[in-house]
Amino acid sequence: MNLLDTAGLPRLDKLKDAYRLIVNDKPFISLAGEVHNSSASSLEYMDKNVWERLVYFNCNTAVVPVSWELIEPEEGIFDFTLVHGLIEGARKHNLKLVLIWFGMWKNSHSTYVPAWVKRDTLRFPRVQSASGKKLPIISCHSEEALQADSKAFAELMRYVRQVDSVEQTVIMVQVENEVGFLGTARDYSSQADKLFKANVPIELIQYLKDHSEELSPFIKKHWKRESADLLGWTQIFGSAAEEIFTAWHMSRFIDQVVESGKEEYPLPMFVNVWLKQYEEQEPGQYPTGGPNQNVIDVWKAGGPHVDIIAPDIYLNEFAQICEIYNRPDNPLFIPETRRDSVTVANVFYAIGEHQALGYTPFGIETMDNGVDPWSAGFLPPNHFMVMESAGVGPLLSKAYDLLHHMTPVITQYYGTKQMRGILQDKAYPSAIRLGEYRLQLRFKNGLHSEAPPAGGLIIAVSDHEFLIAGHGFTVEFTSLEPRKTADFISIDEGWYHEGNWVPGRRLNGDEYRVSLGNEPQVLKVSLYTH
Ligand code: DGJ
Repeated sequence: MNLLDTAGLPRLDKLKDAYRLIVNDKPFISLAGEVHNSSASSLEYMDKNVWERLVYFNCNTAVVPVSWELIEPEEGIFDFTLVHGLIEGARKHNLKLVLIWFGMWKNSHSTYVPAWVKRDTLRFPRVQSASGKKLPIISCHSEEALQADSKAFAELMRYVRQVDSVEQTVIMVQVENEVGFLGTARDYSSQADKLFKANVPIELIQYLKDHSEELSPFIKKHWKRESADLLGWTQIFGSAAEEIFTAWHMSRFIDQVVESGKEEYPLPMFVNVWLKQYEEQEPGQYPTGGPNQNVIDVWKAGGPHVDIIAPDIYLNEFAQICEIYNRPDNPLFIPETRRDSVTVANVFYAIGEHQALGYTPFGIETMDNGVDPWSAGFLPPNHFMVMESAGVGPLLSKAYDLLHHMTPVITQYYGTKQMRGILQDKAYPSAIRLGEYRLQLRFKNGLHSEAPPAGGLIIAVSDHEFLIAGHGFTVEFTSLEPRKTADFISIDEGWYHEGNWVPGRRLNGDEYRVSLGNEPQVLKVSLYTH
């Protein structure tokens, strides 16, 4: 299949200043949940414990891993029973799928490679630290590793095309998981040393020159661009050389894996990011060479076939991370995030402010749904616990239902300046401008109260009409013209069904104000000035 021939397939549509995800020829927002790492290795487990939970949360997409060891247990012998079952399970529950290729790396390490890869340390060499210690990470400088990973991934994509190119249950693929080197900034094997002593590839330098205005502060700080006669990694990038070197080689490796997969079936493909947690964190303490905040540009240079660099956002600085990864060359897609009290506010904000293509709380099947034994403390054995707050699940379920049914409306405003996100966050302004009005926002509960923080999105459908969705805030409108008074024509409560407004109460009298309660809702507000 031609790599560029994505017509009719799930694809990214580039608008002037934004992107849309198109699925079955319609704009789509992936309102997803990612399952725990081991859940999708058993179809029975998925049936018993997972699918119905995704339905309860009103997810329209499940994010599930496919591990290399389970599809190619012996070299060259492929078994796609699990993949087939996952696609069937998703279809039965009316869900789309994002597959995660747990191939060569998962959270830095090579844990999901087949036994025949693990055992063959000559053919698949391990990364060596500066002290000579072998780490449980297969080197990204190994040609054999690249060939084996690419071949397995291509087989997977060929299989998915064969069984799914008509119905299109699988809509995107994440290639590898949170890559980079933990424990060292670069590989110190003799082969890697040789590469580190060679010149920086001209393609990387050319990319940096062509994009010199937009580079990350980290690259701007470390790139010694004036000295045209400097050629080596350390000469050009100084103390950042090792991280940039690893990022370049890692991105080249993954780009080639992605390309092999797309040659079989060109679905949108992305990489996810283990973010650098704080400024002073040293290389090796976070997966170094992965596409973190510092080196996105290196990945853009080295990975032209990768459609999206997608941050896993567990940090408190949600808004700042969205800002960094939503760029003209990179739509915001959140493949993993927290499922505690901030998650409902964050989904509204990511979509409203940054036109996110997808949102994915991690470990969805053990999230509290407020009604069954899971929320009363029962958890399956060997279950990996993640942070959460009681009572958030039902709110997420309501938010996902609203956002899914509003998608045809919301996505019309992607790439325009008529939509804003709202987030109860220290850095968020207390007022914004939209249409002909200044909108004063007030959050109903203090930031440190028991109630989840507020979040929402506001669309100026025209200069005087607004759709306001979300929870936990009020809006007061004033005219931008100082001598005019703003007043409501009407305020309507309602809901959406498949893109259509379903009216509820007309709010007047005591309810004549824009005030969203603790549960997600949507209001339609019409104003005039006099
Ligand atoms: C991030 C990883 O990408 C996931 O696979 C999972 O291990 C989570 N961390 C657990 O919090």
